[in-house]
Amino acid sequence: MATTQTQLNDEVADATTRWLHSGLQQLGALTVSTQDFLIGVKEREFSYLDSSGSTRTSILEADNAASMVEKNPSVFLYGPGEAKFEDRPVPTIEDSHDVIIRVNYVGVCGSDVHFWLHGGIGAGKITPGSPLVMGHEASGTIHSIGSAVKSLSPGDRVAMEPGFPCRWCARCKEGRYNLCKDMKFAASPPAAHGTLCKYFKLPEDYCFKLPDHVSLEEGVLLEPTSVAVHMAKLVNVKVGESVVVFGAGTVGLLCGAVAEAFGAEKVVLVDILERKLEFAKGFVKGCGTFTPDSKATPEENAARLINEHDLGDGADVVMEASGAEPSVQTGVHVLRTGGSYVQGGLGRPDICFPIVAMAAKELTMKGCFRYATGDFKVALSLISSGKLPVKELITKVVNFEQATEAWEMTRKGEGIKTLIQGVQG
Ligand SMILES: NC(=O)c1ccc[n+]([C@@H]2O[C@H](COP(=O)([O-])OP(=O)(O)OC[C@H]3O[C@@H](n4cnc5c(N)ncnc54)[C@H](O)[C@@H]3O)[C@@H](O)[C@H]2O)c1
Ligand SMILES: [Zn+2]
Ligand SMILES: [Zn+2]
Repeated sequence: MATTQTQLNDEVADATTRWLHSGLQQLGALTVSTQDFLIGVKEREFSYLDSSGSTRTSILEADNAASMVEKNPSVFLYGPGEAKFEDRPVPTIEDSHDVIIRVNYVGVCGSDVHFWLHGGIGAGKITPGSPLVMGHEASGTIHSIGSAVKSLSPGDRVAMEPGFPCRWCARCKEGRYNLCKDMKFAASPPAAHGTLCKYFKLPEDYCFKLPDHVSLEEGVLLEPTSVAVHMAKLVNVKVGESVVVFGAGTVGLLCGAVAEAFGAEKVVLVDILERKLEFAKGFVKGCGTFTPDSKATPEENAARLINEHDLGDGADVVMEASGAEPSVQTGVHVLRTGGSYVQGGLGRPDICFPIVAMAAKELTMKGCFRYATGDFKVALSLISSGKLPVKELITKVVNFEQATEAWEMTRKGEGIKTLIQGVQG
């Protein structure tokens, strides 16, 4: 049966779309220009209609192709203190819901520093034989989209949720996809590369389009904000409640601000560093602050905190974002009976824990692992409505080539949030 012009047009359009989306148009200098309609690709042979309407076929020369396709400069970590700038292949769209993002900014957080110093966290260590691209807090601009993508177009500015799950398992189906065993989370050993690169691939529903008034720099802060949102949802912070936040780093500050946005009446931030608490006073409007006495017992610190901040029988909610053992202990003692506690901070894996106080007060204790269904959406809403002035957290922006210096700055506790600019040019 003869092929009709409409069929041919559809086929050509489809193939051209795939071609353009695969990044292979970069091979244009070989023979194919965007005016030439691609008809089909079979292994390394492709056929296309040239501008005069003639059908032509050509072979992709692997060597040529490799040298002509666009590069994807990336920051690899080979082990503690061993970083290298190397090229990776530009990702290609394999699933029709994928998008490829040109990375604009990547934030640095404590876990990057942990990788930089120790080559990983816990058992998940990088080995020189399987180096890993770092970075997981990121924003970027949509570069290309799969054929089924409806919500995004090239040029859209997005915040990236940097991990996606299998979508099939029991945890995924109950909406707790952050607990999926097949999660592919950026910069997780052994093989999930991170966002410190020029091009990064995600499913479209893990990208969050930024409104015009939210900058790409602010977009990076959706990631840590989503951790705070997840924590606040786990303990169900309600209007009128009192919330004590341990740790006034990025996550703690955001916990305080999110708790206020959720309606908490009284928020107290706790830190051992005075300068952190000074900053907190400006960022979490109207919050109280507390400096624990390292010589006092957790019970004594809790009693003083309750007294100084007029918390009556104790706080309704504790959000722990320091990971420090004394914070966990004080947190249990500072809660009222029936109060709720969420552990966000990741410190020593085993600690001494006041379990009898927990039982006697019938506390609700929750763990927190990143974020899940709806958290990025809530974070974006809080940021775009101006309730969370996340711009204030950005203290420095460095070039892509200075990535390791950015990790060093965070290691030394300089500023609050350092951003690494994406590859220029
Ligand atoms: N659970 C998760 O999914 C998740 C996600 C992101 C970060 N985290 C963890 O959350 C914690 C906070 O992250 P961050 O980026 O804000 O780190 P950060 O280092 O910027 O902040 C930690 C803060 O805790 C303070 N602190 C240390 N010891 C203290 C003590 N005894 N009492 C009170 N404050 C104390 C520090 O001075 C610092 O200001 C880290 O442990 C991090 O690993 C967990
Ligand atoms: Zn982080
Ligand atoms: Zn799953």
